[in-house]
Amino acid sequence: MTAETGLRLGVNIDHVATVRNARGGAYPDPLRAARIAEEAGADGITAHLREDRRHISDADIDGLIEVLTVPLNFEMAATAEMQKIALRHKPHAVCLVPEKREERTTEGGLEVAREENRLAHYIVPLREAGCRVSIFIAADKRQIDAAHRIGAEVIELHTGAYCDAHAEGDITTRDRELEGLREMASYAHSLGLEVHAGHGLTYDTVQPVAALPEVRELNIGHFIIGEAIFMGLQPAIAEMRRLMDEARG
Ligand code: PXP
Repeated sequence: MTAETGLRLGVNIDHVATVRNARGGAYPDPLRAARIAEEAGADGITAHLREDRRHISDADIDGLIEVLTVPLNFEMAATAEMQKIALRHKPHAVCLVPEKREERTTEGGLEVAREENRLAHYIVPLREAGCRVSIFIAADKRQIDAAHRIGAEVIELHTGAYCDAHAEGDITTRDRELEGLREMASYAHSLGLEVHAGHGLTYDTVQPVAALPEVRELNIGHFIIGEAIFMGLQPAIAEMRRLMDEARG
């Protein structure tokens, strides 16, 4: 499937851990979800180890590294603690995201331009360890230029504003946001960056983003895990995959 469309699906399993942690036990197990996702056609698994460990735990990351047969996209804040963990595990990809304790989810993109010097140094050991470094940013030329200058190989464009506008029925904003994603995907690609996208994507919003030819990977979590409650994880992923392929075709 992937070879035909050139578009990978990374399934984010954070919210399996959210449900588990609601009771403080071991069920439901994010590793079991990861295995089902692999079988359902996920090309990768994404997990965000937050500073406050509100969903994914250190033990989850240990387990994922051990059992996964598809690449792990390890999302993390650009802190010394997370760098140490990433260097111990050497995941296929490290995606740097902004993190605020009080936020409910990753609200904006990383301010690469503001922290260019620090981030340029920060990613060197990660790249030397063989991790693909991805930076989660808004569709903003300034941030893309900075990500390129610091030596990131991948950018992930934040689709949250586009998805929020769609959910609110604000078609004008939605279309403007989509146009921004289109232009910036193309611009980033022209610089030689690999382009990923994600955040807030649903069955209703995925296709216009999947249709952007420069986008090589979508990372989707919350909606898939939500749909899994109603239809099961395997069919929820299969339907997302089908919509992506249809948009690409
Ligand atoms: N990509 C990144 C960088 C993220 O931080 C998240 C949320 O953890 C996602 C993708 C997935 O977003 P969602 O869970 O809304 O699908």
